[in-house]
Amino acid sequence: MPAVGGFDKGTGKAYPGNLTPYVTVTCVVAAMGGLIFGYDIGISGGVTSMAPFLKKFFPSVYRKEALDKSTNQYCKFDSETLTLFTSSLYLAALLSSLVAATVTRKFGRKLSMLFGGLLFCAGAIINGAAKAVWMLIVGRILLGFGIGFANQSVPLYLSEMAPYKYRGALNIGFQLSITIGILVANILNYFFAKIKGGWGWRLSLGGAVVPALIITVGSLVLPDTPNSMIERGQHEGAKTKLRRIRGVDDVEEEFNDLVVASEASKLVEHPWRNLLQRKYRPHLTMAILIPFFQQLTGINVIMFYAPVLFKTIGFADDASLMSAVITGGVNVLATIVSIYGVDKWGRRFLFLEGGTQMLICQVIVATCIGVKFGVDGEPGALPKWYAIVVVLFICVYVSGFAWSWGPLGWLVPSEIFPLEIRSAAQSVNVSVNMFFTFIIAQIFLNMLCHMKFGLFLFFAFFVVVMSFFIYFFLPETKGIPIEEMAEVWKSHWFWSRYVNDGSYSGVELVKENYPVKNV
Ligand code: BGC
Repeated sequence: MPAVGGFDKGTGKAYPGNLTPYVTVTCVVAAMGGLIFGYDIGISGGVTSMAPFLKKFFPSVYRKEALDKSTNQYCKFDSETLTLFTSSLYLAALLSSLVAATVTRKFGRKLSMLFGGLLFCAGAIINGAAKAVWMLIVGRILLGFGIGFANQSVPLYLSEMAPYKYRGALNIGFQLSITIGILVANILNYFFAKIKGGWGWRLSLGGAVVPALIITVGSLVLPDTPNSMIERGQHEGAKTKLRRIRGVDDVEEEFNDLVVASEASKLVEHPWRNLLQRKYRPHLTMAILIPFFQQLTGINVIMFYAPVLFKTIGFADDASLMSAVITGGVNVLATIVSIYGVDKWGRRFLFLEGGTQMLICQVIVATCIGVKFGVDGEPGALPKWYAIVVVLFICVYVSGFAWSWGPLGWLVPSEIFPLEIRSAAQSVNVSVNMFFTFIIAQIFLNMLCHMKFGLFLFFAFFVVVMSFFIYFFLPETKGIPIEEMAEVWKSHWFWSRYVNDGSYSGVELVKENYPVKNV
């Protein structure tokens, strides 16, 4: 019987190629696309805990927080309008990733990145200049459109550019820049909140222009992926590019496979409808469940609301922003660990280790908060050591996420889809991710109010479910060329019934009918 997660290297393909400086620099620039997403995740939590911002746009929340000292701690920040501010962006991102699927497929990955940067820029300017709530919301919708385009195209770009042996590490550059974006935003919030006159929030929101310009300019100077050039008929140019990227002359085999994959993808007229075919069942399942589970780890409760959360458990304004900076730093460092390990230890190991670590921490944090706050949310005086212990375990939890579900939630989907469904499947991945990010952003404060410390146990439950899912259903994809990925499903104990030798993929059909010699 085929192994649970194993792969017996069926095709034994090994394309020659090195990690050239050219491909490294290219991938670093492209990965910057993650900055806009990260900056935004980090900035909104801090801004919504700044008093002048609340006073101007959400006075009722401000009054509740400032005046009503007797309210239950768990429910202090429960406001639909405030959460709508945070979450509106994710709905916009969801919609735009669907449009981006077509742009990415027909016009290439670069153009999607360019759109992403420009839309994000516009949103940042409107937000920084906001005079009324509607401007905030319009700005965030534009930011969302930008993120939809970037998250659709950047992970695909990276996975296509990278030599397969280093695909994990290079792709995680995207997640690394997400985490750097979050950290920079947290640090800026910390300082901008101190600006006299209370207009620091304008700098926080308007500052998003900087990462937006980086990816806009970046997308203009980046080369096309060879896949994308072949798709547009530039075969000779693509081969030269592939030689340059891989740093070797012998790129024949990989080039031919790319041509074949591209021919196959041209035969596909309805990539969306195609996704529903039986042989794509494992891909569709992963495109839906991986982002769903990533969000159900509960990470964004920490990312969006860390300052609010830390305030809830008894930190002063300043100290709570500072702790958010600490969790942000841990997030970046732990992501670097996964860059180091992903192509050595594999995806499954990281998923399972990270899951176990998160689970343990969630149970401990729930217990700590439960013991002190009880169900009525009245903590009394909180000893300092207690708050430190909570922050410590939150950090261990964040690091568990940062070397597992964080990067892998973007890497694994981008490397398992065959070219003929790649753009469509990736946009399912992005939209599901954004939808659940939206749900969590929208209802977290309300959940905290009702589920209290049990909220952490709620997410812990899902971490158990997702770890079992990975153990039984996700095959290892480390060290396998993208266009050879069909083999991992064929040798999997469960998925082999959907993807078997009888169910040819588009690529195989083309290979049979049009064997490619030297193009
Ligand atoms: C997730 C985000 C999350 C971030 C935290 C990303 O992979 O998609 O929702 O906020 O990681 O680092």
